[in-house]
Amino acid sequence: MCGIIGYVGKRNAVPVLLYGLQRLEYRGYDSAGIAVIEKTDRKIIVEKQVGKIKDLQEHLWNKKIEGHTALGHTRWATHGAPTIENAHPHTSQKGTISIVHNGIIENYLELKKELLDKGYRFKSETDTEVIAHLFEDLYTGDLLETAFKVAKKLRGAYAVGVISTYEPDRIIGIKKGSPLIVGLGKDENFIASDIPAVLEYTKDFIALDDGEIALVKTDSVEIFNINGKKIEKKPFHVTWDVSVAEKAGYKHFMQKEIHEQPRTIGDTITGFSSSKDDQLFCMLKDVDRLYIIACGTSYHAGLIGKFWIERFAKIPVEVDYASEYRYRDRIINENSVVMGISQSGETADTRFALLDAKKEGAKTISLVNVVGSSLSRETDYVLYTYCGPEIGVAATKTFTAQLVSLLLFALEAGVKKGTISFRDYEYIYNQLIHIPSKVEDILGKDDQVKEIAHRYMNASDFLFLGRNINYPIALEGALKLKEISYIHAEGYPAGEMKHGPIALIDEKMPVVCVAPKDRFYEKIFSNIQEVKARKGKVLSVATEGDSQIKQISDEVIYISQTIDPLYPILTVIPLQMLSYHIATLLGKDVDQPRNLAKTVTVE
Ligand code: M6R
Repeated sequence: MCGIIGYVGKRNAVPVLLYGLQRLEYRGYDSAGIAVIEKTDRKIIVEKQVGKIKDLQEHLWNKKIEGHTALGHTRWATHGAPTIENAHPHTSQKGTISIVHNGIIENYLELKKELLDKGYRFKSETDTEVIAHLFEDLYTGDLLETAFKVAKKLRGAYAVGVISTYEPDRIIGIKKGSPLIVGLGKDENFIASDIPAVLEYTKDFIALDDGEIALVKTDSVEIFNINGKKIEKKPFHVTWDVSVAEKAGYKHFMQKEIHEQPRTIGDTITGFSSSKDDQLFCMLKDVDRLYIIACGTSYHAGLIGKFWIERFAKIPVEVDYASEYRYRDRIINENSVVMGISQSGETADTRFALLDAKKEGAKTISLVNVVGSSLSRETDYVLYTYCGPEIGVAATKTFTAQLVSLLLFALEAGVKKGTISFRDYEYIYNQLIHIPSKVEDILGKDDQVKEIAHRYMNASDFLFLGRNINYPIALEGALKLKEISYIHAEGYPAGEMKHGPIALIDEKMPVVCVAPKDRFYEKIFSNIQEVKARKGKVLSVATEGDSQIKQISDEVIYISQTIDPLYPILTVIPLQMLSYHIATLLGKDVDQPRNLAKTVTVE
């Protein structure tokens, strides 16, 4: 939902902004722009382009813009179509103040009316432009002081960057609801929506909390609350190598991220085991119900987590879409625990639902990938996945890492509660550590999956079926295919098919069946026969050595054998590969699918 970046320092800001915007492009790619306080005449130069960062780059080619204080923006349109006028940065009427914004200003119509009455003219249809005019209108001679005044007038969620010709040596960053970090360099400092944007230049960061305002200059960073009180914040250091934000020879980030999974699964096993929070697991002993809330792929991880937590820790679990949980009449008491799962840790639906539950007395846990993200700072306990940045809009490596964390969470809680023996724990753990090499084997079948993709790429609908713990994998397979190939797909519990969706099946309908050799194998085998009897095309994901399934399937992708509870970590991999290949064969932009953004910071 839009990416913002700001630079103040000794180098020319333009290449720094373009580098950063490329790394923020996953947040939106409808238009992009920069505002630079020109080095010589100190005027603000604004350049914008509809489309992607490469379009902005081409547009800037041969334009000799140089300056040391600047802002950049990549847009995911909310208010107003993707046009040059609606692209950020937006500039005040006198051209003295420029701003970039990620989020939504809920009271912008009211503010716009006030400003129109005072004679301000608007060039765009955005909610954002009011902020630029407000800064001009309320300017006191001190940009920071003005920011306190402006922030008090804004309602909604926002991360804002501000520069001004009045005080060209500084950037103001304001955060409420949308993410904003400050990157700490030597003779230069940055603001950005996310760490990878400035990872080339620094690994030290301050994460702003809601209601905080940063005054960022070349050689200093100060943080204030909205009332002007200075706040001391502890910086944090990330160990990510800059290459994690590069494609490293792969054609797409999504492809790279699929292939990184043996490592990210391994790192998450190690990371979880070395950072266990004893207090969290002691607290779980008294819990009478756990609620898991999440969106999209993270929600599917939550559905699988439920199976593990109920089985090993014997804690009843309810899983909800965060956007639904927030507005239902939930029943919470001091023994309720709510866990939010989110790759980004910034998803508005998940954050706000969790904050509401916290206010009502629930204890809160987050499972996030992005270190320092809002969710990780707003919850009582934090669990991490250890994937490094995920840039492809379709979540892949973070999904399998979420699964690993949830499984270990369930096992650890089970051991602490005495609902599983340490021996059982060790047995499962010892199987888990072989999963990375089994994932590697599946990735080795890339050519086979590509051939299958070739045969089915022109289908207009797909059905995905799974049972029990592999049913959410069917949902995830369908989501992956929809979002990057734009082919309609539905995930269904295989046993439920006969209650309706079976009517859809004919010789044109590919049905992807997640059918590993677990305790539900015979049941799903019968369901596959039901599909075959209606001439559906069956693509099975099955366990190595299962020759029986070959006889009733048109295609089989084999995965290595493992124990029942671990199958979902393997069965999802061929489905990620299948979607990837279908989408690329269809010529779709898999890293930046239409209408989507990686981090959804609006409700
Ligand atoms: O960052 P989060 O995990 O909170 O994001 C949740 C969803 O927006 C996300 O999983 C989305 O569905 C992905 N595009 C799925 O690939």
